[in-house]
Amino acid sequence: MKKAKEQIPEDLVLPQHIAIILDGNGRWARSKGMPRSYGHIVGCDNLEKMCNVIGDMGVPYLTVYAFSTENWKRSQDEVKVLMDLFRRYLKKLVKTAHRRQMRIRIIGDTAGLDPDIQESIRYLEEVSGVYDKMLFQIALNYGGRDEIERAVTRLADDARKGLLPDGRVTGNMIESYLDTAGVPDPDLLIRTSGEQRLSNFLLWQLAYTEFYFTPVPWPAFGKKELLDAIAAFNGRDRRYGGV
Ligand code: IPE
Ligand code: IPE
Ligand code: MG
Repeated sequence: MKKAKEQIPEDLVLPQHIAIILDGNGRWARSKGMPRSYGHIVGCDNLEKMCNVIGDMGVPYLTVYAFSTENWKRSQDEVKVLMDLFRRYLKKLVKTAHRRQMRIRIIGDTAGLDPDIQESIRYLEEVSGVYDKMLFQIALNYGGRDEIERAVTRLADDARKGLLPDGRVTGNMIESYLDTAGVPDPDLLIRTSGEQRLSNFLLWQLAYTEFYFTPVPWPAFGKKELLDAIAAFNGRDRRYGGV
């Protein structure tokens, strides 16, 4: 039997798109007297688990922030640990994608990743591209400003070639050049581990998203914490600038 605290109340409105800033792996590990790398390993296992939980609830879109364009500033050792974890995780995700009939898309400047990782991404996106039960987006070497710079560069190229109707730039056009093109904006953004900032995540897409911050570090964030976040989301009055 499910624990009472983990049952989903029937009248709960589910966000259609949840975005998560997976933060606090390092501090969680250090608090247990372990190296930061241990936090990343447990954090990666938790991502696999929570992706299942969120998919089972029926949320069709999940986007997670796994490595930012700024995270290269970390020690070489830590970057290597993270890249090796992504290497393994991207391979494992092929099975998960088939099992869950889930499409996977990597957002961010993938050209800046090692060639073998780029190849794993290409393969994963190709084999999972036939599924539409859920879309799981993972931000790797992602920065919101970098995404906008890349989008605007391509848009300017198209403008020079005379491909823009009326020569006018609209919000919908900018959206169509972003890494997340075609995906509805997140309804709920969760950031774990206490920090209350975006750290360059989805700057364009979060314009009307509800934010939820929790002190719980990512490796300890489970179904109960997710339900708390969704319950808080249900208490919000979304107005989109109206009354
Ligand atoms: C999140 O945990 C994982 C990545 C940013 C890659 P951190 O590594 O940021 O952990 P803290 O925030 O230092 O505890
Ligand atoms: C944001 O976390 C990036 C990811 C979770 C991948 P950071 O830990 O890198 O952000 P800051 O440095 O606290 O802003
Ligand atoms: Mg952090």
